This record gives sequence, C-alpha cells and structure tokens, in this order.
Amino acid sequence: MSPEFTKLLQAELEAVAARYAERNPRSKALHSEAVKSMPGGNTRTVLHVGPFPVVMKSGKGFQITSEDGHTYTDFTAEFTAALYGHSNPVILSAISDVLQNTGMNIGATTAQEQIFARELCRRFHLEHIRFANSGTEANLHALAAARAFTKKRKVVAFGGGYHGGVIGFAGDKPGANNVDREDWIVAKYNDLESARSAISSDGVAAVIVEGVQGAGGAITGKPEFLRGIQEAAAKAGVLVILDEVMTSRLTAGGLAELRGLKPDLKTFGKYLGGGLAFGAFGGRADVMAAFDPRFPGALSHSGTFNNNTLVTHAGYAGLTKVYTPEVASQFTKKGDELRERLNEVTKGTRVCFTGMGTILGIHFPADGTRDIERGGVVEEIDGIRDLFWFDMLEEGFWVVRRGFIALVLETPESELERFVRCVEAFVSKRAGLVKL
Ligand SMILES: Cc1ncc(COP(=O)(O)O)c(C=O)c1O
Repeated sequence: MSPEFTKLLQAELEAVAARYAERNPRSKALHSEAVKSMPGGNTRTVLHVGPFPVVMKSGKGFQITSEDGHTYTDFTAEFTAALYGHSNPVILSAISDVLQNTGMNIGATTAQEQIFARELCRRFHLEHIRFANSGTEANLHALAAARAFTKKRKVVAFGGGYHGGVIGFAGDKPGANNVDREDWIVAKYNDLESARSAISSDGVAAVIVEGVQGAGGAITGKPEFLRGIQEAAAKAGVLVILDEVMTSRLTAGGLAELRGLKPDLKTFGKYLGGGLAFGAFGGRADVMAAFDPRFPGALSHSGTFNNNTLVTHAGYAGLTKVYTPEVASQFTKKGDELRERLNEVTKGTRVCFTGMGTILGIHFPADGTRDIERGGVVEEIDGIRDLFWFDMLEEGFWVVRRGFIALVLETPESELERFVRCVEAFVSKRAGLVKL
C-alpha cells in the first residue's frame, strides 16, 4: 500500500484506540490487575486483544454488558456455543431443575445420559456416541478411535483448520503446541488434488476436516471437495472424521446432512451442551467399539464430567425444545440473508463476508477479491480489520477482533438490520481506506 494509505490508516487507528481507552477505563484497570496473576492477564488466547480487552460483566438474552457499563449485541455468541443466548428460559429451567432435584455430581451412570445420547444419535445419524467436555477432547478421542481401528497413525488435516487448543493448523502447519506433531500431513483446504495426494500417503489412519472452517475465517468447503475427500478416503482405507463442532447448528442434522456426506465419525461441542462445557464424538459402531469396556484391550475414555447431569439435561432440553429441526433451518436462512445483505452494502470495497448460515467471517482483502476459498492465502489488511472492530464496538456490536461473527438465536431482526446499516456507514466513513 502507498505511504499515504499507511499514514491515514495509522492516524485513524490511533484516534479509535484513544477513544476505546477513554470509554473503557474500568476494563483497563482490571487488565492491569489481571497481568499480576495470569500471563498477559489472559487464560484464553483468542480473547487477548491490544491495548487491553474489554472486560465483560454479564449477559442477558442476546446482549452482554461490560464492566464499563456498555451493552453490546452479542455477535460473538461464545464462538457459536452461546446459540441459546444468555438467559433462555428453557435452558435456565433445565439447569435449575437439576440443581434442585437431581444433584450435580452423581459419580455414576444415569438414565439421562442415554436419553441425551439417543437424541444426538437420532439427530446426527450416528450409530454410537460418547461424551467429553470440549470439542478438543472429542477430536482427540475420535482420532484415538480411528488409529485403534485402522492400526495406523498418520492423520491428514487442512491448512487453516482448527480442531482444538492442541490441534490447529494456522499458517498451513501444525501449531507449535499440537499433539503428535510428527504424525500430521497438512493438505490445502478446498484443493482436492492436495487432499487426494495426502490421503493416499503411507500409514494414514484418518482425515479430519471441517465442512466450514470456522477459526480459519468462516471458509466454506466446496461440496465437491468434501465429497472428493470421502471418496479418496474410502479408496485408501482411511477414516473420515467430520468436525461438526461449529457446523452442527447449520441444519437439523448438521453439515453432513446438508452436503449429503457420510463420514465414519463426527465430532461435536459448543451449543449442544446447552451453553455448558461439552464435547461428543460418534458414528460407526464398529469404530466406536474401540472404547467398549466390555472387551479386553479397549481404549480407556475417562473424564470426570463426561456425563454430568447439568449438561445432559440442559443439552437435551435445548435440542428437543428450542433448537428443533424447523428452527435450525430458519436460523440458517436468516444468517444467509444477513451475509447477502452485508455483501451487497460492501460491494466495490475491501470488506467482504464469508461463511454459511449464522457463522460469518469478515475479510479485508487488499485487492478487494471476494472469492476467498482458503484463509491466509489472500493478502488482507489487518489495520482495517482492527478499525472495523473498534468502530463496531462503538456502535454496540460485540464481534470477534479477528473477524468472526456467530449469531445468538433470539437476536431481533432490527439488530441485524442495524448492523447492516453500521457496516454500510463504515465503508462510507472509511472510504479512503476501503473503497477500491
Ligand atoms: C471446528 C472446531 N473444532 C473443535 C473446536 C474445539 O472446541 P473446544 O473449544 O470446545 O475445545 C473448535 C473451537 O472453536 C472448533 O471451532
């Protein structure tokens, strides 16, 4: 970019950052205390932002309120886990019923866990399922099952993919703290030739893939790419693990149903726990049998909270009484319409929106391309991304700094419309930086 462009961007960023500091003095003070007990004042990397994070105090419905007293429409939705919002009466009632009548830490098998398991199997077309406490854990156990079943070790993953805190592929390589670093083969997302060649390598147990890369920028996997992976894997005797941790919200039966895919295993998490910590993995009974404790040599799958009563009740209530199949498809339609409206008002600019349904990515491509098939490949202007975040915060929208939006179910249409108008105002106010 030209020196004038860089100078303008710098000046605008300095102005918004100064206003941010002025508007959020209590967050700033809390951050300077937090660094005394946590490195960087942080216990969750994705929430770290400079100069200091806004500290949130509470959430209600589709909104959250900061320690500085500002209320935001929650467009982060806990990275899709807060689909039910912050005070859904069905979820609250299920939780309160458990607290009052069931008890929290039973330390035994319960009838509710099989009721919940049955419902998840029905909804997501699984033969068998097991529970965990996070999406990360679900993926780790699914990988263990695939390795036990195939008696092979290597796993194909995709650049930009994210399957948990220790299974990430930003920058097209395994993260520095990834598990089993030597066992990954990283192929290119949305590039079937690259996927086929990786899958046909020696010693591959499984291929793990997101149907829409969430953390990678809400990049939609092309249907022919996903189907091609399935075909190549079947030919090579490699299992397919479809990571539905984010995408399970997209239809009643998740992305697999939408794309007509039949992966060997699927993994889940996020909202399916009703807003509580949750993970699950399931699929083919013969593969899941690796964990069947009735057989000698079965893999151990422990976890104190795997079948906790809060999550098995809240998750079940959410899925059966709130996020019914009809609601799921209407919600995805609402998200698709929002993305279309946003792309309409940002035409001819360096701002565009990707994703599917209520999972959206915001991109700031330097050359204005709107065809983003892989994250990290198109050059983006990070300074404009920051400016957007500061501006949307001032307008009362809590979006993810790196450019990610997930919707809360009960967000009113008027707020979606207001967001479209704010984005329109952004590209007009920041025309010197974003107009092509
Ligand atoms: C696709 C995908 N898989 C797995 C995970 C990990 O889930 P958790 O944060 O519950 O460990 C995430 C989290 O964002 C995710 O987006």
